Amino acid sequence: MQAFNDLADFSNEEIAALLELANRLDRHPEPTALRGKVLSLLFLSPSLRTLASFQAAMTRLGGGSFVISPDMSIHGLESRPGIVMDGAAAEHIREAVPVIASYGDAIGIRAFAERKNLATDLAETEFNALTDLIDTPYINMESAMNHPCQNLADWKTLDDFDVPANGGKFVLSWAYHPRALPLAVPSSTLYMAARRGMDVTVLRPEGFALPDSIMDKARTAAAANGGSVTESEDREEAMQGAQIIYAKSWSSTSAYGDRIAEQEMRKGLEHWCVDEDWFASAATDCRFMHCLPVRRGVVVSEAILDGPRSIVIHEARNRMLAQMAVLHQMLGTGQ
Ligand code: CP
Repeated sequence: MQAFNDLADFSNEEIAALLELANRLDRHPEPTALRGKVLSLLFLSPSLRTLASFQAAMTRLGGGSFVISPDMSIHGLESRPGIVMDGAAAEHIREAVPVIASYGDAIGIRAFAERKNLATDLAETEFNALTDLIDTPYINMESAMNHPCQNLADWKTLDDFDVPANGGKFVLSWAYHPRALPLAVPSSTLYMAARRGMDVTVLRPEGFALPDSIMDKARTAAAANGGSVTESEDREEAMQGAQIIYAKSWSSTSAYGDRIAEQEMRKGLEHWCVDEDWFASAATDCRFMHCLPVRRGVVVSEAILDGPRSIVIHEARNRMLAQMAVLHQMLGTGQ
């Protein structure tokens, strides 16, 4: 495997093989599978789970890893092309990224969306500019529109909780957040659930529809796999029979990159905080998922997060197992 960038790059058989491998590595650890291998981890955006789970995954497979982020005592990093570097930044990504990549056998890169221009972010311009600088295998640790490690872990979580693929009802719900957040998790989660063949409803207030190209990609995946994709602003209708509610806040696409307009649109939407009354029309055992980090009492109530519906800790542990499978395929002897 040369790149793990988007679930859409893999066949159903390849995804099934990764999930099976993740389960096998959980049951039967392979502590020397990646002996002598090094994973470079470049975090241009913050993280807790991705950083810790990749380091744990490499250690559990007998390899090693190192982390570079702008928060560390590195030289200031410049990313603008064609710039005269007479300011604070002393190093350009055009040297830094290939150097970091050259120390490892593969590199993981995290670079959130700039959220200035929707077309630029949909085209993954920034992430592609980074991967164009390297020739080692790479893993997308979250870019403007993709978070494939989260998606693979979430697919495994749905399997672990016996949520049916075909016929299973998955609600991806917008939730309130004081800040405008990127589209990577909602976009790629929508694709994951549609690709799994589920009946997916995107529940969101007016003005927070996901971009057409993201919806079209999910609809195509659903149609090919026996599922469906719908949108709704009506909570009770959307939650009818739901087996999963996956909450996430995301930016408005109509006010994308306009902080003041976005704040205006969010006013009065504070009640988009998942609580028990959301589940009135859902399946009795409907579960709550979230990629984390999550703001308690803002995105979801404490009662839901601490109660039996929540599977967020299991979901987060699956990040490590899913990434072990990816690393095993990318760097193991059977690659
Ligand atoms: N879900 C996720 O990617 O978490 P972090 O941002 O903490 O890595």
